[in-house]
Amino acid sequence: MDALKNELLTLVNDAPNLAALDEVRVAALGKKGRITAMMKDLGGLSPDERRERGAALNALKDEISFALDARKAELGRAQLAARLEAERIDVTLPVRPEVEGRIHPISQTIDEIVAIFAEMGFTVADGPDIEDDFHNFTALNFPPGHPARDMHDTFYLPDAKDKDGADKKMLLRTHTSPVQVRTMLKEKPPIRVIIPGRTFRSDYDMTHTPMFHQVEGLVIDETTNMGHLKGCLVDFCRAFFDVDDLPLRFRPSFFPFTEPSAEVDIGCSRKGGELKLGNFGDWLEILGCGMVHPNVLEACGVDSTRYQGFAFGMGIERIAMLKYGIPDLRTFFEADLRWLKHYGFVPLDVPSLAQGLTR
Ligand code: PHE
Repeated sequence: MDALKNELLTLVNDAPNLAALDEVRVAALGKKGRITAMMKDLGGLSPDERRERGAALNALKDEISFALDARKAELGRAQLAARLEAERIDVTLPVRPEVEGRIHPISQTIDEIVAIFAEMGFTVADGPDIEDDFHNFTALNFPPGHPARDMHDTFYLPDAKDKDGADKKMLLRTHTSPVQVRTMLKEKPPIRVIIPGRTFRSDYDMTHTPMFHQVEGLVIDETTNMGHLKGCLVDFCRAFFDVDDLPLRFRPSFFPFTEPSAEVDIGCSRKGGELKLGNFGDWLEILGCGMVHPNVLEACGVDSTRYQGFAFGMGIERIAMLKYGIPDLRTFFEADLRWLKHYGFVPLDVPSLAQGLTR
């Protein structure tokens, strides 16, 4: 056994690369490997012999495994060093103006939203794009079979198993609201978060793309009411669009997860085919909101007799198009460099309220 050990250790340490090392591993420890074969032979021995030889074989196996791991790490480091050497780039070279990058308007808009809400004391949370039915619908008070489940034309994925082995419906989240649920399950009130992210619905035309972005807001404590919701959104919209007297209109609406619910319009004018924001008597819808439904609080383990709060959900492309005069939604996702050059933002002009959101 000692001879075998020395032979194998030599092979391991002499292996010139990862592929050769793996051959050594298979020849020793693989299904038909030499140590594996010796392990199989143990069955034919007397109990005493088996115990002794088994222990020795296990020690041999451990020693070889350890040597294999060490050599693998060593070869990996050498391979990385060789690659770093070969792929060296000179970062001091001047930028070629024709390939100068731009920040995509969606990224810029998210940065601006975060800057405004951060000033109001919100933190940023996120959740997975691939959700289960519980977080996207059930916990948000859509009962099974509720027609609102098709209202969102959902992309369903193959079922997964939950921790008890039951089938779990999986989908691409149709809104950012499931992260309300994830946040409340994880954190104790008071809660003040915004959640920007991707959302998906099976829809494609002038004003819908199968992937788009939303920003969700959630505030939970003991006294937050509809007045706070209104003040918060008015302040946000005036800061974001940089229009001091921008009027907001709250229209009664319905969402299963809020009660009461509202949709919010901002004042605009469409005269002469041009869209202008401000107090002109015309209206444009930009978001949905409401007071978080007690059933949702309870489904997330929050005591609804003690806590209350509001939530809102806003389409990011929609407000980016309004602010930056981008006429066609679909162009956001065409990855056309000329478009990006025109509508994109210069890096390092990071939006902040102190310096101005866009310069
Ligand atoms: N999730 C809703 C939608 O996508 C928007 C919304 C969010 C409404 C939060 C109320 C509260 O349409």
